[in-house]
Amino acid sequence: MALSRKGLWRGIIREFAEHLPPVGEDAVTTLLEGNTPLVEAVNLKDVTGRTRLFFKFEGLNPTGSFKDRGMTLAVSKAREEGSRAVICASTGNTSASAAAYASRAGMKAYVLVPEGNVALGKLSQAMIHGAMVLEVRGSFDDALAVVKEVTKNYPVTMVNSLNPYRIEGQKTAAFEVCEYLGYNPTHHFLPVGNAGNITAYWKGYEELRERRVVSESPRMMGFQAEGAAPIVRGEPVLNPKTVATAIKIGNPASWQGALRAKEESGGVIDMVSDEEILDAYRLVASREGIFCEPASAASLAGVIKMRKLSVLKDGDTAVCTLTGHGLKDPDCAIKVSVKPLSVSPDVKEIVRAMGF
Ligand code: F0G
Repeated sequence: MALSRKGLWRGIIREFAEHLPPVGEDAVTTLLEGNTPLVEAVNLKDVTGRTRLFFKFEGLNPTGSFKDRGMTLAVSKAREEGSRAVICASTGNTSASAAAYASRAGMKAYVLVPEGNVALGKLSQAMIHGAMVLEVRGSFDDALAVVKEVTKNYPVTMVNSLNPYRIEGQKTAAFEVCEYLGYNPTHHFLPVGNAGNITAYWKGYEELRERRVVSESPRMMGFQAEGAAPIVRGEPVLNPKTVATAIKIGNPASWQGALRAKEESGGVIDMVSDEEILDAYRLVASREGIFCEPASAASLAGVIKMRKLSVLKDGDTAVCTLTGHGLKDPDCAIKVSVKPLSVSPDVKEIVRAMGF
């Protein structure tokens, strides 16, 4: 019997072609990103009550984060326009994604990361894919300022989320959420760093509403880390601090996009402490079997906070995006977990250690 090819996933550019800027077939650069699972929480009733909660696990994209949705389009368009090189500033995931897609497109990638503040998994990705990694003695915000200057004067394409194709690609996650649920969630929770993703989801949901695919858009619930919460505080943070290095950003590029998403949807941009982030990080791993990176857990920490404040109620349907895979940052997992026991290969000793 011949295997049918029908139904095979072809990546977001081809799957959502009608709703994205056109890309010439020769320029399409894809690793078949998207189509990530929407997993319902089954063991968190004590914190969610009768709010239905789903995780959109973006850690299962090809390079382990949601960035791939935007990168496939940004790199494909750069290639189509004849560009030979891409550049980005990054807390890690954007650099990993840019490096992977650039290698596939036969392009050069330059990535600027804040020295000493990038999880090892992400750094290793950028390196093995052959990007030139520049460790900037400064913050993500400093690195982004340099990237903006360089792209003004040199023939390299910026693939930070200031590149509009990044936002276009990332909005497809909202399409998938509604397609899989069959309706719109009432609330959508996201970690907020440079604020591109919340801007992208809001664009996606609004497009669905305008096309009458769903009756209304969800409230957008964005969460920054307490020590890196410029939008919540209303001013840039000069020296941002948080264990969630992915969102350690003091002056987000898409600040206005985040505010618009919040205001137009009747949502919130709020903050959670590092302790709340790490609690949520352990909770989703130990109860639901989903290993996300610390920054991703800011969204679940937000769910817990909003349930406590009764903003989230029984009967609501919340989707929580888990933006990156936990394997990006194994150091953090090891730091917050029970240490392994060292034992001799002896049945008695091991059975005793097992508690029998
Ligand atoms: N979660 C993860 C795992 C991230 O890597 C990022 C951003 C965010 C959340 C926040 O998304 O910036 O669109 O608000 N990482 C960027 C990077 C800054 O360089 O990888 P955002």
